This record gives sequence, structure tokens and C-alpha cells, in this order.
Amino acid sequence: MAEDPAKLTAHGKDFDFPVLKGSVGPDVIDIRKLYAQTDMFTFDPGFTSTASCESALTYIDGDEGVLLHRGYPIGQLAESSNFMEVSYLLLNGELPSAKELAAFSSTISRHTMLHEQLMSFYKGFRRDAHPMAIMCGVVGALSAFYHDSTDISDPVHRRISSHRLIAKMPTIAAAAYKYSVGQPFMYPDNRLSYTGNFLRMTFGVPAEEYDLHPAVEKAMDRIFILHADHEQNASTSTVRLAGSSGANPFACIAAGIACLWGPAHGGANEAALNMLREIGTPDKIPHYIERAKDKNDPFRLMGFGHRVYKNYDPRATVMQKTVREVFEALNVSDPVFETALRLEELALNDDYFIEKKLFPNVDFYSGVILSAIGFPTTMFTVLFALARTVGWVAQWNEMISDPGQKIGRPRQLYTGPTQRDYVPVETR
Ligand code: ACO
Repeated sequence: MAEDPAKLTAHGKDFDFPVLKGSVGPDVIDIRKLYAQTDMFTFDPGFTSTASCESALTYIDGDEGVLLHRGYPIGQLAESSNFMEVSYLLLNGELPSAKELAAFSSTISRHTMLHEQLMSFYKGFRRDAHPMAIMCGVVGALSAFYHDSTDISDPVHRRISSHRLIAKMPTIAAAAYKYSVGQPFMYPDNRLSYTGNFLRMTFGVPAEEYDLHPAVEKAMDRIFILHADHEQNASTSTVRLAGSSGANPFACIAAGIACLWGPAHGGANEAALNMLREIGTPDKIPHYIERAKDKNDPFRLMGFGHRVYKNYDPRATVMQKTVREVFEALNVSDPVFETALRLEELALNDDYFIEKKLFPNVDFYSGVILSAIGFPTTMFTVLFALARTVGWVAQWNEMISDPGQKIGRPRQLYTGPTQRDYVPVETR
């Protein structure tokens, strides 16, 4: 705790509130007793100044463009680690030894299959259903199939359901894709890596061997690392809020997926690529930049700006590099990448974007890579959900294990009518 309390004068009285210190980052005023002491609430729509929980998982310094998982910089993890190792780190707090990593990877691979009856769920969806709609439904349905691991007060149940969610998400996501293109579902092949397995289940067919391209596997794994966790963002807060009532983890993650779907959050990579394709050629960029600056035009540069980063998103740096690697490995070129680079350059030199500190975020380049790998835009947010599942699960576990955990229940500033008497319909 910091030494000096924060002082508030309200209604002619003085109040002291403790100031808490984290290991790094801004101090936090502890206002838990504010209402009891002052009879007032705070007003903070969008939670721009509110710390909703204590967490030891992920740290972001948005002004400096820093992202750390359990203290390790995202750039180092993306360069030298792999998704299974980062998952272990997020869940357990430390990097695993070689033996621990092998055991963890093996455990995850033992849970990759889905209950066969769950597979028949897919057939109930319209063929043209958005895969995120399928994800919300199927992940929510997991609690109907795996209720032997839904006692959230039991750490063993929590561990098993966490492993199940991480392991089954690639199978669920790949099946959503297969259903949309009318191809048979592929069963997992546990000889492959987590990411290799997902690529094979997505792009392989039973009729022939699937050739896993090592550069694509590496790029995909890196994209998963970049999306693994991101502190108390909207979908993670949704998972925590849903979980705070004691809801089972499968239901909580389904809630997170629903939140992630929105275009201001996980849907932004789909929107960013659609925007880049609509722009088409670099000569049209100035027109779109003008539109983004026009207050009367709802158009925004998708993949630009971030609630927390007021500097370059460190994940966007890795993404940009990965685009080049994938293009080289697959020998593809897509004019959309040139458009993205030019748009970034022009926007970063434009006073509007400089003043408002709007920089490319992780979504600006991810769509370009995913499209080169062969994913349709509708799958982009699904991949985000797949990777973020480990973060959601780790945050949910952290919350449930916290003895001070309470049901989330924000307050409001009420502006509706005050009490009035009911008027019968015939006299209205
Ligand atoms: N293009 C043009 N103007 C923008 C953009 C943008 N992409 N983003 C923000 N602004 C402007 C706003 O119009 C606003 O201007 P004003 O102060 O004159 O009213 C100002 O910058 C601040 O914007 P807010 O929306 O208040 O900032 P907030 O922190 O609430 O929003 C958000 C962050 C939602 C990400 C926003 O920047 C945005 O909509 N970006 C595009 C969508 C996107 O890329 N989302 C992905 C986020 S990353 C993720 O989810 C993984």
C-alpha cells in the first residue's frame, strides 16, 4: 500500500481512501468503502479509469507500447516461445521445464476430441451461419456434455475444464469452418503440434495426406501467442463478470466469445481487411483518411486506435514482420499489404492521428496474413477466440481462486423518471 491516502472532499466533508501499489503501473485508489462512507458512487462508463480486479497475469503500458505476460515481453515470447509454452506460463505463472512442457502438451492433446454427439450440433445450423455464431452455440453447449468438470469450487474440476477448453477449441473452430464449406469434419491427429493439428483439421481432407507448411505453422503459432491474453479487455471482463456469479467455465467462455465478436473488439481484423480491400489501391487512401477524420461520417480506420495503447501496439510490430515471412514462404503477393503499409505511413504522419495518438493495433495486419494462409474473413475472429481462450481461462481461474472474489455488480447514474403512479390504459 502507498503511504499517503487519497483525499476526497464531498458534501462538505473530508474522506481518506487507501492508495494501493501494484508491482508496476499506476497506483490505484481503493474506493471499495466509498459508497458506505460518502453515500456516493463513481461514474466511469467504459471503465476508462477503473481497475476491476487484482491480476498477476498480464501487464500493459499503453503509453510505452509494452505488453508483458507474467513479466515476459510479448516480442520475446513471439520470437522464441511457442503457444503451448505461453499457455502454460499464463495458467501457471512460470515458464515450464522441458518435462513440464512435455507433460502439459501431452495432457492437452488427450482432450482434443469432441463428444461425438456434439458434432451433430453443427448440422442444426444453417449452412451460411457465421462461424462465430456457431462458436457461441457449440462452446456454450460444452457444459451439457462435460458436466463432470463444472464444480467450480473444486480445483481439479477447474483444471480439467481449463484443459478441455484449450484443447477442444481448435477442433470446434476447424469444424465450424468445415461445415461452412461443406467438407467432412477432420478428427484431430495428436502426433502434430497444437497449431499443426488445427491447420490440418481446417485445411486437410480425409482423401489425402495434409502437407503442413512449417513456415505457416510457425506464423499461425505466433499469431496465437499474440492473441493469448490482453489484460482486462471487454471479452475478458465479460468472462470474469459471467464467472463472478458462479457460472460454469464453458458458459463463461461462450459469453467471452459473444463479446469478442463485436467489430470494435475481435471483429476488427475482419473489418480491417474488408476496409483495405475496399480501399483497393494506394491512390484512394487519402479519401478514406479524410472520411475517418470527418465527425459526420461514422467511418473509422479499422485496425487503428486502441483503448489502452497510445503508442504502437507491440503485437502489430510482430504481425507486420510475420506478413513478410508468410508471403515469402508461400510465394504470394497481395496488393492489400502494400495498401496497408502506405495507409499506415500516411496516417502516422497525419495531424489528426498524431494528436489522438492513434496507431495500428494487432488487427491491422493480422487479416492480411490470415487471408494469405487461406482463411476466409469470417474465420478471423474465430482464430482470435481460439487463441484468447487460454487467457480467458487463466483469468477466470485467477478470479475463482481469489478469496476476496465477489459477484460483479456495477452501479449506475439513474436519469429516468422518479416514482409516479400507474395510469390505467383507458385514462391514458
Ligand atoms: N479512426 C478514426 N478516428 C478514431 C479511430 C479510428 N480508428 N479510433 C478512435 N478515433 C477517434 C474518435 O473518433 C475519438 O475522437 P474525438 O475525441 O474527436 O471524439 C478519439 O479518436 C477517441 O476515440 P474513442 O472511441 O473515444 O477511443 P476508445 O479508447 O474508446 O476506442 C477503439 C478505442 C474502440 C479501439 C477505437 O480506436 C476504434 O473504434 N478503433 C477501430 C476499431 C478497432 O481497430 N478495434 C480493435 C481494437 S484492438 C482489439 O480489440 C484486439
